Amino acid sequence: MRLSVIGCGYLGAVHAAAMASIGHEVVGIDVDQAKIDRLARGEAPFFEPGLNEILAEGVASGRLTFSTDMAAARGAAVHFVGVGTPQQQGSYSADLTYVDAAFASLVHQLRPGDIVAGKSTVPVGTAARLAELVAPTGATLVWNPEFLREGWAVQDTIDPDRLVAGVPAGAEGERAADILREVYHTAIAKKTPFIVTDYATAELVKVAANAFLATKISFINAMAEIAEVTGADVTQLADAIGHDGRIGRRFLGAGIGFGGGCLPKDIRAFSARAEELGKSESVAFLREVDAINLRRRDRAVELTLEALGGSAFEKRVAILGAAFKPHSDDIRDSPALDVAVRLHGLGASVVVTDPEAIENARLAQPQLEYIADRDEALRDADAVVVVTEWEEYRHQLNPAHAAELVKGRAVVDGRNCLDAQAWRDAGWAYYGLGRPRV
Ligand code: UDX
Repeated sequence: MRLSVIGCGYLGAVHAAAMASIGHEVVGIDVDQAKIDRLARGEAPFFEPGLNEILAEGVASGRLTFSTDMAAARGAAVHFVGVGTPQQQGSYSADLTYVDAAFASLVHQLRPGDIVAGKSTVPVGTAARLAELVAPTGATLVWNPEFLREGWAVQDTIDPDRLVAGVPAGAEGERAADILREVYHTAIAKKTPFIVTDYATAELVKVAANAFLATKISFINAMAEIAEVTGADVTQLADAIGHDGRIGRRFLGAGIGFGGGCLPKDIRAFSARAEELGKSESVAFLREVDAINLRRRDRAVELTLEALGGSAFEKRVAILGAAFKPHSDDIRDSPALDVAVRLHGLGASVVVTDPEAIENARLAQPQLEYIADRDEALRDADAVVVVTEWEEYRHQLNPAHAAELVKGRAVVDGRNCLDAQAWRDAGWAYYGLGRPRV
């Protein structure tokens, strides 16, 4: 099938390459010439495992092309729109400028019978508004949210947990759902659930899923706060409650909390939208979820100060991690980088290392020192703070080896990802979040 993908950021670039990899003929469109040039060479503009391979393969096969000209979308049977919806400056609401601009430009290229599939995360009610814009062209709008996780984006796109299609009522909607089934035929052949619903439900599935995940993380982080004043160990607590199949252990990782380009902004946009709908009390708990999440960063800073003997002034602190999570070079709303910046603000000499995110981090926070080599970053540190649970730190860093490099053997485990006993045995003072000191 011929497809167009409007917006070649994180979501769009992965979607375009993944659709080409399953046999479709795809044109990716973006206003950013530099990004399009890179993609057209088969190079990913960001780090995502497996993406370079499918991009290069798609470009070499001739099935995957890129353009800055919206006219290139003409003739595609399905037009995916995956532009960003960042948090508005000075407000909690989602900024729909890019979505509106993409649709305003795309409508001129639509033909009767075309499908426009919105993938961006939008406030509920947006699809109904955009459907009115698309209707005069004879094309049909479907809302087809994306649930990909950074670091697993290629796999999540090709082999998702579920597919959701919000469609208009009646024969038009049925036809649109059938066309999407054709697009995703490889996943559907593997019995991936394909849920056909209305626009509002499809939009809400996305925000509800992210709100639930954020709530689960903040729940365990709230338990970490209680554990800290009672001497309990939140990691054992999470293991124990996680054995209950109704609860499950995933997303019960207590630590410095969630960040990234999705969960924080999505829960805030959801709160803002609920308020507009006169239902702010329905999701009032999300304010708490956000507040607990931010408090854990404070706690990591507090523990580091304690590890440094009360003051960060002129102390050297090695920060292991800058990305908001491992397998990513994304530093958007990264709790890791936030902790580093705060310690720097308290007078510490902060050196940050990360296997993938240093370049992005340097651009965002140039005042910090960056060292790519992990061991060099550890050298002469008064305290070590692990803030992103990369393999390089959790399993591949030997505490006895690290002990030889540093000045002070104090480690703050901001992700509860280290083997606490092994670090203690190597002579370290170990500080976990929501875990007893000894
Ligand atoms: C998330 C959703 O998982 C995905 O379905 C949606 O499409 C986009 O948002 P992503 O932002 O890539 O994906 O990351 P995710 O793996 O969900 O992690 C989000 C944040 O939560 C990270 O900062 C991570 O470190 C943190 N986290 C995750 C925890 O603090 N504890 C956990 O147990 C799990």
